[in-house]
Amino acid sequence: MTSGLANGGGAGAGKVSLRLQYYVVLAGVAVVVVVACLKYTPAAAVAAVGYGFWGGGGPQHQQGAAASGVAVAGSAAVAAAAATTTTSPGSSAPARSPVVIFNFGDSNSDTGGMAAAMGLNIALPEGRTYFRRPTGRLSDGRLVIDFICESLNTPHLSPYMKALGSDFSNGVNFAIGGSTATPGGSSFSLDVQLHQFLFFRTRSIELINQGVRTPIDRDGFRNAIYTIDIGQNDLSAYLHLPYDQVLAKIPPIVAHIKYAIEALYGHGARKFWVHGTGALGCLPQKLAIPRDDDSDLDGNGCLKTYNDVARSFNVQLAAACRQLRQRMADAAVVFTDMRAIKYDLVANHTRYGIETPLMACCGHGGPPYNYNHFKMCMSAEMELCDTDAKFASWDGVHYTEAANAVVAAKVLTGEYSTPPVRIASLVNSTIANDG
Ligand SMILES: *[C@@H]1O[C@H](CO)[C@@H](O)[C@H](O)[C@H]1NC(C)=O
Ligand SMILES: *[C@@H]1O[C@H](CO)[C@@H](O)[C@H](O)[C@H]1NC(C)=O
Repeated sequence: MTSGLANGGGAGAGKVSLRLQYYVVLAGVAVVVVVACLKYTPAAAVAAVGYGFWGGGGPQHQQGAAASGVAVAGSAAVAAAAATTTTSPGSSAPARSPVVIFNFGDSNSDTGGMAAAMGLNIALPEGRTYFRRPTGRLSDGRLVIDFICESLNTPHLSPYMKALGSDFSNGVNFAIGGSTATPGGSSFSLDVQLHQFLFFRTRSIELINQGVRTPIDRDGFRNAIYTIDIGQNDLSAYLHLPYDQVLAKIPPIVAHIKYAIEALYGHGARKFWVHGTGALGCLPQKLAIPRDDDSDLDGNGCLKTYNDVARSFNVQLAAACRQLRQRMADAAVVFTDMRAIKYDLVANHTRYGIETPLMACCGHGGPPYNYNHFKMCMSAEMELCDTDAKFASWDGVHYTEAANAVVAAKVLTGEYSTPPVRIASLVNSTIANDG
């Protein structure tokens, strides 16, 4: 039995060689327990966010400048985003971005909301690859929603909770790490995010009626794309249960997402882009849970049962979207199967430039998963992969910039979507519902 850790010139085994140099970050200053988070969020939701502890001010490991062309191009996008300003009423207004996105979700699409809401000082290495600074995203770089924004030539979304430096002229990101679709399952569950949107919209309309220019105008709300990516934390809270019992938990979760879409529709939303949940059984966080034997592992090293749960969730969410399309004939409701995309990323990882699909870049314990629930990324004892190592998982729960780029590219093809349309086609459509 060969381990991938060939020392020296392993005969032909180099393909699996882990170009991984572990080193321990000695967290310098205080380790802050996220009490606020723990106080309101059930343990399982916190686990799904990925962190219990934050190391502050430790040595920052910026190994070399692994800048890719993509990163440079993206920096320009960020600069452009920063340059965009909201104008005061009466001034001659610059052209509005034709693309407006309102995003709802959890850490998979949180662009800094949880950090802003909780006042968390998220430090490097978070953000090390692309932004070169921590932005509150739980990744070394960009998230799928960031790549979606870039593909639509619109700036990255500002988090609703971020008081300074936010620009809401191209939409708002209501997603918060740890969030559940189930009300009360987390402090910023989907119903709270929905109410935040309604607050934002109502206040905007009030101001518009007073003749004030708002970041989003009436057309902006009507033509916006409403993106939703939530459910992973709900499912994660139940995965320890027997399979049948987990399946029984799915319908109410899906019902909450469906309800949110109906409520948004009731307030004028017409374009919905809904992500299913990912391949949960391929996450290092799940794989690192002690098991009696490997009988549940599939040919790609993922847990079959957890991926079956994800598949079942997505089938039901897709069915809910189908019902909504029938009921809301003047709306577009597009469902995208993230499990299929993320499983393909694992199964065919070499084709996508990923060398290590099932091990966390930032975690603890080394191979096979480098994940320890009590010594997670950002804890004092984290072990971090090289900046040029090709990992799919950043911290055992969230993906790396490299993996998110692959996932986003597949999302953007529309091939994993029902109906099979590209998100770009929603931007200028007055409404296309053919499905
Ligand atoms: C891997 O790629 C092959 C070839 O494109 C494809 O047929 C297969 O479905 C992919 N595997 C997964 C799990 O998506
Ligand atoms: C939408 O229409 C505008 C104006 O015609 C055009 O510039 C833009 O490229 C279109 N966007 C997409 C995504 O098709």
